[in-house]
Amino acid sequence: MPLGCAVLTLLGTSWLSQQSAAVSHRQTNSPTFYKDVLPVLQEHCQSCHRPGEIAPMPFVTYQETRPWANAIREAVNQKKMPPWFADPRFGHFSNDPSLTPVQIQTISSWTEASAPAGNPKDAPPLRHWAKGWNIPQPDFVVEMPKPVSLPAKGAVEYTYEIVPTGFTQDRWVKMCEIRPSSRAHVHHAVVYIRPPQSGWLRLAPVGVPFTASSLKDANDRRDAQWTNSDILLVYAPGSSPDHWGRGMAKFVPAGSDLVFQMHYITNGHRATDQTKIGLVFAKTPPAQRVLTLQLTNDRFVIPPGVDNFRVEVHGTLPNNATLLSFFPHLHLRGKRFEYNIIHRDGQIEPLLRVNYNFYWQLSYRLAKPRFLKAGTELQAVAWYDNSRNNPHNPDPDAAVTWGDQTYDEMMVGFFDVAVPANTGKFQFFVRQPRK
Ligand code: HEC
Repeated sequence: MPLGCAVLTLLGTSWLSQQSAAVSHRQTNSPTFYKDVLPVLQEHCQSCHRPGEIAPMPFVTYQETRPWANAIREAVNQKKMPPWFADPRFGHFSNDPSLTPVQIQTISSWTEASAPAGNPKDAPPLRHWAKGWNIPQPDFVVEMPKPVSLPAKGAVEYTYEIVPTGFTQDRWVKMCEIRPSSRAHVHHAVVYIRPPQSGWLRLAPVGVPFTASSLKDANDRRDAQWTNSDILLVYAPGSSPDHWGRGMAKFVPAGSDLVFQMHYITNGHRATDQTKIGLVFAKTPPAQRVLTLQLTNDRFVIPPGVDNFRVEVHGTLPNNATLLSFFPHLHLRGKRFEYNIIHRDGQIEPLLRVNYNFYWQLSYRLAKPRFLKAGTELQAVAWYDNSRNNPHNPDPDAAVTWGDQTYDEMMVGFFDVAVPANTGKFQFFVRQPRK
C-alpha cells in the first residue's frame, strides 16, 4: 500500500511528523464512524436505537455513539445485540438482523482504534424513518378511543377495547405496527379483526375499555379469550412490525371492528395506555391472503423446581398453505421453543429453534416461504425452567398451569400462512375429503 510506505518513512524524523504519521496511519487502516460504522448502525441498530424507540440511547450521530463504543463492541462480539434468538443451524430468516463476521470485525477495529469519526462526507445519506413508526407512514391509524387506567400494583385482568374501523370498503393490509403509548406496561397485545357478521363479544361495549368479568352476558364472558377471529397482529416486548411479502396481505372486510386485547402489567407506577395500530394498505388486491394460526397446548402442569419441562402440541394443516413466519409465546419460565414438520415416515424436520427470552418476543420470517400440502403435520415444542436457577422465575415452588398472568404459563406457537386470497379462516379449516 503506497500510503502505508510513505507513513513508515516518516517515522522517527521528528515528533511532529510522527504525530501526523500516526494519524494518517489510523485514517488509512482503521474503520471510521462515518464511512464504516454508521451504515451498520443504520441498517441493524437504529430501528431501536433512535429517539423515541425502545432502546435507551440513540446511535444516530457520532456524538451520541462515541461514548458507547466499548459497550457496542462488547454487545456485538457477544451477539447480545442486535437481539436475535434463533439457533443459526436451522432455517434462514429474512428479518434476521445479525451482523456478519466482517461487520463485527469492523466495529471491533473501530473501537480499538479509539473510535475515530472520520470524514462526515463519507457518511451514507441519513436514514429516513416515519416519525413514531417503524413501518412507512401508515395510511390509516386505529387508536383505542379511551385510555386505559392502570394501577400501580397487582395483576390486571385482560383488557379489551372494540374500535370500529369505519371502513366502507374491504381493505387489504400489507404492513401494520402496534404502538402502545405506555410500552413498559404492555405484556402483550393482540389485535383481532371482527367482521360485521361475527357474533363475538356482540353485547360488549364499544369504544371503552372492559374486562371479561365485567361483561353481563355469560357467552361474551366465556368467549372473550377463546375467539377464532382472524388476528391482525400480535405485539410483545421487542416484537417487530409485520409486513408480508409482495402479493400478500391481511383482509379487513368493510364494516369490521378491531378488537384490542391488552395484557397489562404493573410496575409500581400508575399509568394510562392508549395503544394504536398503524396500517399500510395494499394498492391492489393481493393474490394471497395471510392468516395467523396457532398451535396451542393449554393442558399441562409444570412441576415445582423442574428445570427442563417439555410440552408439545401438533396438528395437521387442513388445506394447502404457504408457511411464512413464526411467533412463539411463552411466559417467564419459557426456555426453548421449536417448530418442526413431522414427515410421514416419522422423520422430524426442524423449522425453527429459539432460545426463548420473554423480554424479546420476536417473529421469525422464513427467507423462503415454504409451500405445505394439506395434511402436513406441524409440531411445536416448548421447554420450561421452573427451577431456582431461572432468574426470572416468579415462584419455583409452584406447580404451574396455563393462565393469563405472567406467573402462569402459556404455550402458543403462532404462525402465519398465505392462502388463496378468497379463502377466509373458516374456509381454511374446512377439510377437503382426502383422495
Ligand atoms: C430490536 C431493538 C434493538 C436493536 C435492533 C438493537 N438494540 Fe441495542 N438495545 C436495545 C434495548 C431495548 C436495549 C436496552 C435493554 C437491554 O440492554 O437489553 C439495548 C441495549 C444496547 C446496548 C447496551 C448494552 C449494555 O450492556 O448495557 C448496546 C451497547 C447496544 N444495545 C448496541 C446495539 C447495537 C450496536 C445494535 C446494532 C448492531 C443494536 N444494539 C440493535 C434494543 C435494540
